[in-house]
Amino acid sequence: MLKKIKEATDFIKSKASKDVEIGVILGTGLGGLAEDINVEAAIPYEEIPHFPVSTVQGHSGKLIIGELSGKRVVAMQGRFHFYEGYTMQELTFPVRVMKFLGIEKLLVSNAAGGMHPDFEIGDIMIIDDHINLFPSNPLIGKNYDELGPRFPDMSVPYDLDIISTIESVAKKNNIKVQKGTYVGVSGPTFETPAEYGYMSRIGGDAVGMSTVPEVIVARHMNIPCFAFSIITDLGVDGKIVEVSHEEVQKVAQKSEKILTKLVQEVFKEL
Ligand code: HPA
Repeated sequence: MLKKIKEATDFIKSKASKDVEIGVILGTGLGGLAEDINVEAAIPYEEIPHFPVSTVQGHSGKLIIGELSGKRVVAMQGRFHFYEGYTMQELTFPVRVMKFLGIEKLLVSNAAGGMHPDFEIGDIMIIDDHINLFPSNPLIGKNYDELGPRFPDMSVPYDLDIISTIESVAKKNNIKVQKGTYVGVSGPTFETPAEYGYMSRIGGDAVGMSTVPEVIVARHMNIPCFAFSIITDLGVDGKIVEVSHEEVQKVAQKSEKILTKLVQEVFKEL
């Protein structure tokens, strides 16, 4: 694995001149942020050695290197999900590579179903903790001591200083934000009412099908993480209605502008 990470890293470095500071996984709700990046290189995943490639569509995404709000970033436009059939190790491989490229922080975004009774559709939630309900963990198997410890600490999964920066930036810019625990599940089914109820009772505020694997791998390598969910539907007793991928995309698109603005302002403070 180390050899594969190095080969991917060397290839990417041959396309970009400077080091990067922040890694970004542009999930649902942050796709538009790519347009604000002053792009130095945009590399299709297919060209990068050992990167996962989509077997479903012809092309699976791009790795973008450039500058955003004065910070050097490497951004994944298009991410991989467990429900697509990738292993946990495959779908987190790009995070390993971003570490070798030099990132000091990782930002992740996603769409999620809200379970906290105060949440409304379209809300932005700062993730301050998570519960891994995926049937696996990306660190199962041989541990690479060069990357991180066998038994990584997870007492601070999301960076507390960055969270307080986000909260003060949001306040200053009059952006409403929620904060809570994200439950990561495999999908691809959305939750039954009983499952929403269960996840709420065990301490979850929102549920989605990504982010947890990437954050586990990033924390293994001691990268401070920060993450946002866009609440696209509600898993709250009495408010549960039919959910569809289209509806999730539609709501996320509406909140995207606000989240993009928030991220741009936060980046200036990092
Ligand atoms: N459950 C799981 N994943 C999701 C949801 C949900 O309700 N909404 C958006 N992604």
